[in-house]
Amino acid sequence: MIRIALIVLWVIILSTSISSAQQVDRVKALWKLNCQGCHGAEGKVTAIGTPVLYGGVARFLNTAGGREYLVSVPGVVNAPIKDEDKANLLTWIVRNLDPGHLPDDFKPFTAEDVVWGRENPLHTRAAQRRVELLNALGLENDLH
Ligand code: HEC
Repeated sequence: MIRIALIVLWVIILSTSISSAQQVDRVKALWKLNCQGCHGAEGKVTAIGTPVLYGGVARFLNTAGGREYLVSVPGVVNAPIKDEDKANLLTWIVRNLDPGHLPDDFKPFTAEDVVWGRENPLHTRAAQRRVELLNALGLENDLH
């Protein structure tokens, strides 16, 4: 009986680790297809008007309205990605590209966050909103 229970437990553990590995692959593929063209493979592109995500994107999670900003920028809102996948993609971005600024109480993005962003898109106001949030963090605008 114990042996069966252990086998069942092992299968459960194995299948969760496979599914989370598959989820990471899926998120990376979505990043490549939808985001990398502007932001670069490692989020380090500094093209005019495009922010460097690497080492900076999670700063916004440390001020009121920052989480909402991240889900409502045009590049995120307009990408043809399912809500849950988009939430996983954003979570992966902040955790992988900018772990240093991640707040201790960070909660993964959810489909609800993504829906909120779609219903409150920043459109052409994104750059202005970005400056407001950076100023609230006591930082200068770093976009050119
Ligand atoms: C056409 C180019 C383009 C594409 C494609 C694009 N972005 Fe962006 N992204 C930008 C620009 C430009 C900004 C700055 C805000 C603005 O003016 O839209 C930005 C801002 C952001 C921000 C806020 C970071 C900051 O420092 O202000 C995040 C997060 C982000 N993009 C994620 C993504 C994700 C995720 C994807 C893919 C689903 C994506 N972007 C696709 C150009 C793009």
